[in-house]
Amino acid sequence: MSYLDVPAGWRLGDRPVRRLGYGAMQLAGPGVFGPPRDRAAALAVLRAAVEAGVDHIDTSDFYGPHVTNELIREALHPYPDDLVLVTKVGARRGADGAWLPAFTREALIEAVHDNLRRLGLDVLDVVNFRAMFGTHGPAEGSIAEPVAVLAELQREGLIRHIGVSNVTPAQIAEARGICPIVCVQNHYNLAHRDDDALIDALGADGIAYVPYFPLGGFTKLQSSVLDAVAARVGATPMQVALAWLLRRARNILLIPGTSSVAHLHENLAAGRIDLPEDAMAALNGIGATAGG
Ligand SMILES: NC(=O)c1ccc[n+]([C@@H]2O[C@H](COP(=O)([O-])OP(=O)(O)OC[C@H]3O[C@@H](n4cnc5c(N)ncnc54)[C@H](OP(=O)(O)O)[C@@H]3O)[C@@H](O)[C@H]2O)c1
Repeated sequence: MSYLDVPAGWRLGDRPVRRLGYGAMQLAGPGVFGPPRDRAAALAVLRAAVEAGVDHIDTSDFYGPHVTNELIREALHPYPDDLVLVTKVGARRGADGAWLPAFTREALIEAVHDNLRRLGLDVLDVVNFRAMFGTHGPAEGSIAEPVAVLAELQREGLIRHIGVSNVTPAQIAEARGICPIVCVQNHYNLAHRDDDALIDALGADGIAYVPYFPLGGFTKLQSSVLDAVAARVGATPMQVALAWLLRRARNILLIPGTSSVAHLHENLAAGRIDLPEDAMAALNGIGATAGG
C-alpha cells in the first residue's frame, strides 16, 4: 500500500508526523482493562503500523493498565528515530477497572517515570495531561497545578513536549499561560463537533488537534449519509469518516484505534481518498443533524 501518499504532514512540537497515526488503546483487553485476547495479534498490529509508515502512536500507562505500553516496547523497541510516542497522564485504574483521576504532584511524577520505564525511553516525546473533573467529557476546573508539574518535568529533560486532553478552551488558555502546548486531544468526529471553532483557532496558532473516537469509539459511527458517500467514492464508511477529518483541517492528526491488521490498513488507506465538495457538504450535514 502507498501510505506515503497521505496528504502533507503536520508536527508535534519539533517532531514532524504524518496526518495518519495509530491509537493503541484498543490493544488492551475488554474495557481497556487487562491483557489483550490475543497478544501475538496485538504485537502484529503495532509492527504492521510502523512497517506501513506510521510515525505517531498514541498510548497511556492507564490502558490495561500498563498493557499497551508494554506491548509497544515489546513490538517496537529500539524505536525508529522518526517514531513519536505520545502518552498521557492524569488518571489511574481502580482494581475493578474504574477510571479515576490522578492529578496530584506525586501521582503525575510517578506516572511520567512509569511511562519512561515501561516504554524504555529516557525522554517522553509528548505527554498529554488528561483532565477528569467528574463528568465523562470536558468540564471546567483549574488544570494549572498539574500542567505546572509537567512543565517542571519538561525543564528536567524528562518530557520533550506537553499537550492537554479532554479540556475546555479556558483550560487550554490556562495551560498555554504556563508552557507551550503542542497538541489538544479531545472527542471529535463527524457526528460530535463541539470543537469546530476550537480546532480552527488551534490551527491558526500551529497547535495540533488530535481527535479521540475518530470512528465513534465504543459506538461506531452510523449514518445513511456516510454509507451513501462511501458507496459513491468506493470506500468503506470508516475510511470516509477518516478522510473527512483529514479534509476538515490541516492541524488534525488522526489516531484511529484498532486491534486488527486489516482494519489498520483500511484506515491508513483513507489518506488516499479524495472527497468531492458535494460529498464534504453532505458529510458536514451529519454533525448539524446530530446537534453539533
Ligand atoms: N484522551 C482520551 O481521553 C482518549 C479517549 C479515548 C481514546 N483515546 C485515544 O484515541 C484513540 C482512538 O480512539 P478509539 O480507539 O477509542 O476509537 P476509534 O478509533 O473511534 O474506534 C475504534 C473502534 O473502531 C473499530 N475500527 C477501527 N477501524 C475500523 C475499520 N476500518 N472498520 C471497522 N471498524 C473499525 C475498532 O474495532 P477493531 O479493533 O475491531 O478494529 C474499535 O472498536 C485510542 O486508541 C486512544 O489512543 C484517547
